[in-house]
Amino acid sequence: MRWRWTAAAVAAALLLAAVAAAQPPNGVIRPSNESSLHPLELGAQLFAGNCASCHGSGGRGVTGPAQRAAGGTRGQGPPLTGAGAMAADFYLRTGYMPLGNPKNQPEPDRKLWNPREIHALTAYVASLGHGEPIPHPDPAAGSVGEGQQLFTEHCAGCHQVAGQGGVVTGARVPPIEHVAPVEIAEAVRTGPFLMPAFSKQQITDRELNSIIAYVRSLGAHDQGGWGIGRVGPIPEGMVTWFIAAIALVALCVLLGERLKRT
Ligand code: HEC
Ligand code: HEC
Repeated sequence: MRWRWTAAAVAAALLLAAVAAAQPPNGVIRPSNESSLHPLELGAQLFAGNCASCHGSGGRGVTGPAQRAAGGTRGQGPPLTGAGAMAADFYLRTGYMPLGNPKNQPEPDRKLWNPREIHALTAYVASLGHGEPIPHPDPAAGSVGEGQQLFTEHCAGCHQVAGQGGVVTGARVPPIEHVAPVEIAEAVRTGPFLMPAFSKQQITDRELNSIIAYVRSLGAHDQGGWGIGRVGPIPEGMVTWFIAAIALVALCVLLGERLKRT
């Protein structure tokens, strides 16, 4: 029987190795004299080393399957000349960029960049064109009630009313209750991956403050008792069903016993 365990262990190790090889490159390339560089120069060098394979030199974009990106995947990405500081700051704070594979949904990795690098790359991307600056939302000026209404209307279809995320066709929707106000504003205006971008006509800055106030109120407490990790309405319903089912079966058994005795 022992060889079976050995075979299973070898198979598991091979599978892990295959998964590891398919992961995006988690290392980023940094210039050795990073700390002595002027921010814009640092940004340009980080961009050349980590971003240009997909976004092209000068952020002009790569549309044809022309270049090899880091990690051996083919580089492909949109032009960044209109992205501005807002999109750059968002994609870097979340750790969405650099992508491993241009076909994949960006995955968050918040430890990838330090604040100075985010600042440098953001300044560099902003210098490429005339994109939007980093927004300054003020959730304290918003109303949680109005925010809930707007969130239900515009966001809950994907993020669910409690903001705990889930899946939509073609994407995982992340939980957002602990995301910083600036990042929420940036996400709403930028529209990462399959999320739509909302213009100031669709959601005004004042309404955005309310949406952020509502989202930030979500992490704070559980209304109606046990939160079961806020996994969402379907698992919550199942918990109810299991408890109810066990109670009902127990009741039937008890009644059966009583009937037998009489
Ligand atoms: C069509 C579905 C959809 C709608 C509608 C939508 N989102 Fe998203 N949202 C997503 C997806 C998918 C992502 C993940 C994007 C990625 O991984 O690149 C996301 C990401 C986010 C993030 C970033 C989370 C992080 O990891 O930092 C925030 C914040 C956010 N959404 C807020 C909102 C708000 C507020 C609204 C309403 C105004 C909204 N979303 C509407 C699908 C949606
Ligand atoms: C493997 C290819 C790849 C690499 C490497 C890469 N990107 Fe991207 N980038 C993409 C793709 C594909 C998208 C579109 C994803 C989406 O819609 O969310 C994107 C989107 C972006 C956006 C949003 C553009 C917009 O207008 O909304 C920014 C900003 C960005 N990348 C910056 C960077 C920076 C900075 C780096 C280097 C640190 C980088 N990217 C590295 C492929 C890549």
